[in-house]
Amino acid sequence: MELFLPPFRPGPLGNIMKKSDANVFRCPACRGPLLLQADDAAGEEVKEGSLRCQKCGTQHAIVDSIPRFVPYDNYAASFGFQWNAFARVQTDPAQMPYNHERFFATTDWPSDLSGQTILEAGCGAGRFTCVALETGAELYSFDLSRAVDACFDNVEKPDVKRRHHLFQADINAIPLPHGMFDKIFCLGVLQHTADVKKAYLSLIPFLKPGGELAADCYLNQPLKHAFNLKYWLRPFFKWWKPSMLLTFWSAVVSVAYDLKSLLARIPGIGASLMRIIPIGRLNFEPEMRLSVPEIKEIKTLSVIDMLSPKYDQPKKLSDFEAWSREAGLELVKLTLGYNGINVRVRRPLSPIRNEKLEMRN
Ligand SMILES: C[S@@+](CC[C@H](N)C(=O)[O-])C[C@H]1O[C@@H](n2cnc3c(N)ncnc32)[C@H](O)[C@@H]1O
Ligand SMILES: [Zn+2]
Repeated sequence: MELFLPPFRPGPLGNIMKKSDANVFRCPACRGPLLLQADDAAGEEVKEGSLRCQKCGTQHAIVDSIPRFVPYDNYAASFGFQWNAFARVQTDPAQMPYNHERFFATTDWPSDLSGQTILEAGCGAGRFTCVALETGAELYSFDLSRAVDACFDNVEKPDVKRRHHLFQADINAIPLPHGMFDKIFCLGVLQHTADVKKAYLSLIPFLKPGGELAADCYLNQPLKHAFNLKYWLRPFFKWWKPSMLLTFWSAVVSVAYDLKSLLARIPGIGASLMRIIPIGRLNFEPEMRLSVPEIKEIKTLSVIDMLSPKYDQPKKLSDFEAWSREAGLELVKLTLGYNGINVRVRRPLSPIRNEKLEMRN
């Protein structure tokens, strides 16, 4: 898998890891406390350095202001490439109303969450990071891939950055204390993990008793998926280098879009003929007014997002119901939504049934 390393773009103060975070993070391997060694620090903030586990000795690098608790080259590297290549597409002001709508429809949380501490699992380029930060909450965001670098750039205002704590980590080994969060959200992520149940339940110990998790996951629809081009193309394209996928599909999407536009102009039969080109709508009006290059970019991102992930594992509503009950969680809501399944669960005030969830705080 290609290693995609975007250039470091230093931001204003407030953009970088806070020294005080060193006391919060735990070693993902043994959950021991970490000792900060700053090679490059300014005041309360660290640009480069490391966090050394005081129990097992593992060294975790801080690179470009972000603590890295996983190796760069992991199964999500294609997402790292994707979110750095299309860093601004989904955080563009034209798209933010849609991000708002989806975030609040999925979580059902109030718009003011000042004073709360929230965890975001799998932040990607940060479209929901930006929404969550607008609530006034203290936000911890992580992603397995180098998407964190794009997310870092997308949270721009220094006063907002001060409430944002960003790190690169695996959902199955989150380097934070258990019982730390009032709320956790995980959108667009679970279906792309190796073991969806494990990833979903891995989040629960980090909730405070009474805290709530909102997550979504693709819905398993075998009949519909049998006719979905994506599932026919994935076995072939998911092995391609992300940069090759990008070159190939941006050309295909561009030609297909121009051809579809031409067909649409044929009087009478144009509206029917253009349907043979399966790239969706030619524009997003009236919701969004975008230029043709912008529309082509959105469509290319959408194809790459479908074809490049290593894992794409839709699940059933009953899976989430069973897993939640098995873990002794209160099921707040289980519905269909923007991304397939929407699930909201609460950690009960009494100790949770599954002792495994509670281990090794
Ligand atoms: C489709 S993207 C969604 C990103 C973002 N939540 C959004 O909706 O724009 C899925 C993200 O999940 C991340 N991911 C996949 N497996 C992960 C894991 N084990 N731990 C943390 N993040 C993971 C990927 O790196 C990727 O950025
Ligand atoms: Zn350790």
